[in-house]
Amino acid sequence: MKGIVVYDTYYGNTKTVAEAIVEQLKAEGHETELRSVRVKYPAPPQGDIMFLGSPVRMGSVTRRVKKYVEKLDLGLWKDKSIVVFTTILALPENPTDKQKESREKYDIAAGRRFGDLARAEGLRVVENHLWVDVKGMKGPLVETAAETTKQFTRDILLSLKKN
Ligand SMILES: Cc1cc2nc3c(=O)[nH]c(=O)nc-3n(C[C@H](O)[C@H](O)[C@H](O)COP(=O)(O)O)c2cc1C
Repeated sequence: MKGIVVYDTYYGNTKTVAEAIVEQLKAEGHETELRSVRVKYPAPPQGDIMFLGSPVRMGSVTRRVKKYVEKLDLGLWKDKSIVVFTTILALPENPTDKQKESREKYDIAAGRRFGDLARAEGLRVVENHLWVDVKGMKGPLVETAAETTKQFTRDILLSLKKN
């Protein structure tokens, strides 16, 4: 199987998560390719599964990843699996209920809304999405990021095997 991992990033955190996904795909014996939405490639992305990631800013994924989804070749991708991942700001140490609610409603939900957008484009998006916390506006990622990402990737591959 070939897994293609596509990301947008401003400060590199989402790229680091993308690289951890690539590492896990490789560890499980899959072919992989890492792509940035900011780079023009000679050929359209091709593979069996696409992980598509973005930082969440102002409660949304970036304009670039939305454009990327809109432009994806449905002929190549409509029957393949798309997996969304995001990076979002970690909660402060003692969060208020309002902060927790707002995180659910805007930051975590941004990945879900992005999945809905991709579905509306005709793509098959897996139900679960990954969000990884950053400790400040520019990062770094939380210490558990690599392990969380690898576990998520393992779970996705397992669930696809079952279907
Ligand atoms: C202008 C701006 C707006 C942001 N808005 C949000 C937000 O609404 N929710 C959130 O969880 N994080 C927000 N963040 C933090 C980003 O999630 C963080 O910068 C990002 O995860 C870093 O990933 P990157 O290094 O790949 O760009 C914001 C950061 C910036 C700079």
